[in-house]
Amino acid sequence: MGALLSNFRNTFIVSSILAIALIAWSALAGGGAGVTWVTVTTWLHVFFGILWIGLLYYFNFVQIRTMPKIPDELKPAIGKFIAPEALFWFRWGAMGTLVTGLLVAMGNGYLIEAMSLGATEGFASGKNILIGLGMWLAIIMFINVWFVIWPNQKIALGLVEAPAEAKPKAARTAMLFSRTNLLLSLPMLVAMSGAQGFY
Ligand code: HEM
Repeated sequence: MGALLSNFRNTFIVSSILAIALIAWSALAGGGAGVTWVTVTTWLHVFFGILWIGLLYYFNFVQIRTMPKIPDELKPAIGKFIAPEALFWFRWGAMGTLVTGLLVAMGNGYLIEAMSLGATEGFASGKNILIGLGMWLAIIMFINVWFVIWPNQKIALGLVEAPAEAKPKAARTAMLFSRTNLLLSLPMLVAMSGAQGFY
């Protein structure tokens, strides 16, 4: 067991096998909406959402707040090793969340209704308005990740060529947009999960 748990990849593979076994068991048990590609994609969507927002919360709850207290000689460990790895899972978690979210909305047949915030159906469905709001908030957050936070982090962390004086400005821009995503995250989650629970 110790050998398994000390290996990240193998632990993740076993966790995936257990999840697939539960999906298979649910499919055999039947009942309810059943196991379809849409319900499996919804599960994948929540997984990617946790990966993404979990790392957003790591940056905001832990890294950004702790950085000023870290002695200068230790700071490169964060900038050179931890942050680039965290940013890799962060941006691809965001991509996985967006793609699976759009697929689920399409598979459930309300993509246009939700994206138009209910306008295409005369604002008849509160559920579609709420999920649409959640989707738009999360899409704004996705745009912030891929088009503002990541390009600025690349400059701040020295992953691309840039004049030294550009780094502090890039780091501040990335921080402010990361905070913006923290601000949007709770209403986004209420809309996203409320559309399932409130209606
Ligand atoms: C990036 C853009 C996103 C899009 C387009 C999107 C889209 C959707 C859609 C369409 C649903 C409804 C699924 C259904 O009808 O059963 C949904 C549910 C959900 N989403 Fe998102 N979403 C996004 C981001 C996120 C993020 C960042 C999270 C964070 C964890 C998240 C968490 C959830 C949860 C927990 C549910 C409820 C699942 C359920 O109860 O079945 N979503 N999302």
